[in-house]
Amino acid sequence: MTTIGILGAGQAGSTLARVSIAAGYDVVIANSRGPETLMGLIGELGHRARAATAADAAAAADFAVTAFPYSPSDHLPVDELAGKVVIDNNNYMVWRDGHFPEVDADLKTIHELRQEQLPTSKVVKAFTHIQFHERFQIRFPSDTLPAVIRLARPAGAPDRKALVVSSDHPEAVELVTRYYDDLGFDAVDNSPLAESWRSAPGTPMWRHHVDGQSREELIRNLQRAERPLG
Ligand SMILES: NC(=O)c1ccc[n+]([C@@H]2O[C@H](COP(=O)([O-])OP(=O)(O)OC[C@H]3O[C@@H](n4cnc5c(N)ncnc54)[C@H](OP(=O)(O)O)[C@@H]3O)[C@@H](O)[C@H]2O)c1
Repeated sequence: MTTIGILGAGQAGSTLARVSIAAGYDVVIANSRGPETLMGLIGELGHRARAATAADAAAAADFAVTAFPYSPSDHLPVDELAGKVVIDNNNYMVWRDGHFPEVDADLKTIHELRQEQLPTSKVVKAFTHIQFHERFQIRFPSDTLPAVIRLARPAGAPDRKALVVSSDHPEAVELVTRYYDDLGFDAVDNSPLAESWRSAPGTPMWRHHVDGQSREELIRNLQRAERPLG
């Protein structure tokens, strides 16, 4: 059984836990305040989930997810995550996070900064452009479901959507490709992390939150991305 350590239990972390458990994974989930604050969520997720500190979740993980915004002052369980694939699903949002000069100057991507924080881990950007939160109904009642649930399809379905993955570590891309497949999505490899600006907020591929995009559409939209981001 594969155990995912999910660091971050907000909209993204809790929904990712839910869909991962449905796909057969075990989950150890953490927030910044402590496991005792996650008992309600664990009750909803069931027996395949448990709450832990971030360090314990990282130690228990076969692979991990950092489901919270990047900050230069982050205290991460570097030793517990050493050698492991760490999925970073963060989007750089200036209105939320403030400015990071290296990213603004196109010298580094926000995910390269996360890789620097976890130098012994295999950081991989994934799940950044799929919504984990419910939203208002636009057309049908199912519109309200988080896109990661609403858009999931079995392998080979004609309307299956694709998600992007970027890493400096090929084994991390392979792991995320299998994980995406388990959750109902194809993968498009946009490695290395230095190229991951192509899927940042504001890029052509970014504007497909509602209906998603096929592999071919996603590849085309990644190629159409231009710096500076508009
Ligand atoms: N929401 C989406 O649909 C969506 C989609 C794609 C990508 N993302 C990305 O996913 C990330 C999380 O977004 P969100 O909407 O889930 O935010 P959120 O609802 O504010 O949740 C953030 C979570 O991270 C926890 N946290 C913060 N620092 C932590 C640390 N050092 N160790 C462990 N846990 C920590 C928080 O714990 P406390 O509450 O205890 O502080 C909280 O549980 C963001 O980077 C966002 O850009 C979100």
